Amino acid sequence: MLPEGSLKGKVAIVTGGATGLGEAMAKEYARLGADIVIASRKQEKLDEAKKEIEKYGTKVKTIQVDVREPDQVERMVIETVSAFGRIDILVNNAAGNFLVKAIDMSTNAWNTVINIVLNGTWYCSQSVAKQMIAQGTSGAILNVGATYAWTGGPLTAHSAAAKAGVSALTKTLAVEWAPHNIRVNMITPGPTEDTGAVSQLWASPEQEEEILKNVPAHRLSTRQEVANLASYLVSDYASYVTGANHVIDGGSWLNKGRYKDDL
Ligand code: COA
Repeated sequence: MLPEGSLKGKVAIVTGGATGLGEAMAKEYARLGADIVIASRKQEKLDEAKKEIEKYGTKVKTIQVDVREPDQVERMVIETVSAFGRIDILVNNAAGNFLVKAIDMSTNAWNTVINIVLNGTWYCSQSVAKQMIAQGTSGAILNVGATYAWTGGPLTAHSAAAKAGVSALTKTLAVEWAPHNIRVNMITPGPTEDTGAVSQLWASPEQEEEILKNVPAHRLSTRQEVANLASYLVSDYASYVTGANHVIDGGSWLNKGRYKDDL
């Protein structure tokens, strides 16, 4: 964990910040001293999370937004600046996913996930970067990846394609925006406790057992472990880190050796 005060004076927006990994990251950023905006679609969830995050003593604002809508994203940026005067950190955490055979996927299902994951990341990144550039201060953007962007993800063709796009955006924007002191990185968690991915993608005990068989560490990661890495990447400790992807999955995606079951 980074020391308290590591993000003091910073303002962070976390999309999808009311639940799961987003909430865990928002809490940790608040513990480290940042003022927080959590943005997502459901006000009720936002209100619940706000109460938890406020316990760390920094200011917390909720903004109801669907990242698929560029006008709503624009409003999120304006409301953040009018509440806190600046934006230093953006985490593009909002996501949507479900298992479906590619051959059966409707056009709307495909577009829904591409719109949330890829287009939402783009709308938020561009709007926030414009604000950061206008401020003339440094900034950090953190995207959330998935290892199946590189390996392929059967039953998640929409999400795999979207995450591959987010990976390309991360590298591209890191270079374009480096002259403005905006760093753009990606964090790629594996199976993590208490997240939407667990309830959405491997809900049954049998599915979880199957997943755990492939995790060399033989356990899911905690949300705190992911939040710790997410904090480092947006903090000044990572001031020369940009365009990089950081996998945090206990070695799962490398676990392809022929004799892995004999270990
Ligand atoms: N299998 C197949 N198609 C599905 C599906 C599933 N499990 N879930 C949704 N779809 C399809 C819908 O049928 C619809 O297509 P259609 O109009 O052709 O029927 C399309 O996707 C949009 O679904 P809808 O529920 O109307 O969209 P939404 O915008 O309300 O919600 C999600 C979409 C992805 C956000 C929703 O599934 C959700 O809330 N998921 C839980 C949160 C989540 O995914 N977290 C991330 C985990 S990694």
